[in-house]
Amino acid sequence: MTVSEFEAAIFGQTPTSAEHYDAEYFTGEWRAEGNSYSLETRRQIEARNPQIIRDVFQPRKVLDLGCGPGALMHLLWELGVDVEGIDFAESSRRLATPEVRDRIAIGSTDDRIKPDNAYDLVVCREVLEHLTVFQVKRTVENMVRMTSRFVYCTTRFHPEPASLVDFTTQFDVDPTHITLLNKDFLRLMFVLAGCRSRPDLEARMDWLNKGRVLVMEKQSGPS
Ligand SMILES: C[S@@+](CC[C@H](N)C(=O)[O-])C[C@H]1O[C@@H](n2cnc3c(N)ncnc32)[C@H](O)[C@@H]1O
Repeated sequence: MTVSEFEAAIFGQTPTSAEHYDAEYFTGEWRAEGNSYSLETRRQIEARNPQIIRDVFQPRKVLDLGCGPGALMHLLWELGVDVEGIDFAESSRRLATPEVRDRIAIGSTDDRIKPDNAYDLVVCREVLEHLTVFQVKRTVENMVRMTSRFVYCTTRFHPEPASLVDFTTQFDVDPTHITLLNKDFLRLMFVLAGCRSRPDLEARMDWLNKGRVLVMEKQSGPS
């Protein structure tokens, strides 16, 4: 993809509405391998992830941005981690467990509803591929604004990008997978927002070696 093709493509994208992410989205049978959002399914899928998040980052206060029904929040809460969430879908709160429901704020990933540096870890998993490129840019800036230290993201990346700006879709997996970026392009957005890469922590978080993890650390001082 050339820069002019990129320019045309991003102005042509349409954001997905919050209403799309209803109870059917989270609990319906449409996902491959019965991969739903029930707590017990997520407990199996997450496996060691909650423990690893706690051990690797040793966070004092965590934000899960685009938390959905809060399964990861619940699993972190069980481990004694202080965690809050943001999601723009009202169904997220309705489907969340009583233990974390009131910790979920309704808002968009690019809303400034939380103060600067309010968390030492901002988690954003399986969300960025659902956003337009313009939303990804604003969301990256918002994550860096809200964290005092780490950002940990997982997303689907373009499997074979032909250039830095190349991005694609993945409608066979989920019709809202509208932006699969080149991994380097997403990393660059974080760098330009004032972060450095932490490949050491990335390797620990990517224990399944799927290549879908970014761990970035906010830098203090001039940027
Ligand atoms: C695939 S789910 C991932 C949920 C959770 N992070 C996880 O890993 O299980 C994508 C989530 O992103 C949320 N989302 C999508 N676009 C959003 C936006 N612009 N602002 C806030 N949340 C958004 C959806 O409501 C949904 O809960």
